[in-house]
Amino acid sequence: MWRVVPLTDADGGARTAHEARAGREQGRDGAPVAVVTGGSRGIGLGVARALIARGDRVCVTGRDAERLAEAVAELGPHAMGVAGKAHDPAHQAEVVERVMAAWGRLDHLVNNAGSNPAFGPLTEVEPALLAKVFEINVLSAFGFARGAWSAWQREHGGTVVNVSSIAGLGATPFLGGYGVTKAALINLTEQLAQEMAPAVRVNAVAPAVVKTRFAGPLYEGNEERIAAGYPLRRLGVPADVASAVAFLTSPESSWITGQTLVIDGGVRLNAGLG
Ligand SMILES: NC(=O)c1ccc[n+]([C@@H]2O[C@H](COP(=O)([O-])OP(=O)(O)OC[C@H]3O[C@@H](n4cnc5c(N)ncnc54)[C@H](OP(=O)(O)O)[C@@H]3O)[C@@H](O)[C@H]2O)c1
Repeated sequence: MWRVVPLTDADGGARTAHEARAGREQGRDGAPVAVVTGGSRGIGLGVARALIARGDRVCVTGRDAERLAEAVAELGPHAMGVAGKAHDPAHQAEVVERVMAAWGRLDHLVNNAGSNPAFGPLTEVEPALLAKVFEINVLSAFGFARGAWSAWQREHGGTVVNVSSIAGLGATPFLGGYGVTKAALINLTEQLAQEMAPAVRVNAVAPAVVKTRFAGPLYEGNEERIAAGYPLRRLGVPADVASAVAFLTSPESSWITGQTLVIDGGVRLNAGLG
């Protein structure tokens, strides 16, 4: 259940009319607050919708301020947005600061922002590009987790969910560089889970192909054929991941930490039969 904690500084520090309105919003005072990075579309937007629907207040992030504003408008009065690059430490600090100023707490952190500019064999990926992917996919999550920990979670508790991938669980033919970073994210999940317990539970999700813009090149034009290789005979949609994240950020998962929940329509069951 929600722990009802009075807002310490309801509207203090709010920088926009929208934030001020969010801080004053009646009916959700004391409700849990979540930050979802990369929440302007795809899986992150799906997660934000699910958390808003269950009663949380949600801050979404993304680089494109216009798209982010559209997402916030769709999510409604219990949402706010802070535009910026997830891997920029100044942006990480700004998100935490503005959430604390508007809502006075930060219960759940969903590290969803991620990228993969390095398709192809790992041996052909430039080290500088791999370092960039690592920065976005791993260091962002680390930075946000540190920020949420010191601003709220160390003292008051909460959860972190990192959005990894099945590419982080083993070798893949053309996502090798990405897979290395998603594997690191799983290790980061375990390490933080061990260090942040018992106050904070830290888990990861590892989806297979989920129909978003990011995954378009993996299935567009071939969806039927690719889905036929999944035991559950379809590709994922953002809501499939969102419901798992909602579970991992709820009291229903209160004895689960350091785990990676695979959400893959069963596709890994077929590994090795090819
Ligand atoms: N879709 C899949 O099949 C799949 C499978 C496994 C794991 N994942 C993981 O799921 C996560 C979300 O992917 P998705 O498929 O939902 O992608 P998507 O539809 O492309 O959405 C990505 C979201 O992240 C934001 N974003 C991207 N790079 C960012 C950055 N550097 N800083 C801040 N925000 C950033 C995007 O907004 P802006 O472009 O405006 O910044 C957008 O809101 C990623 O971590 C991805 O690796 C996806």
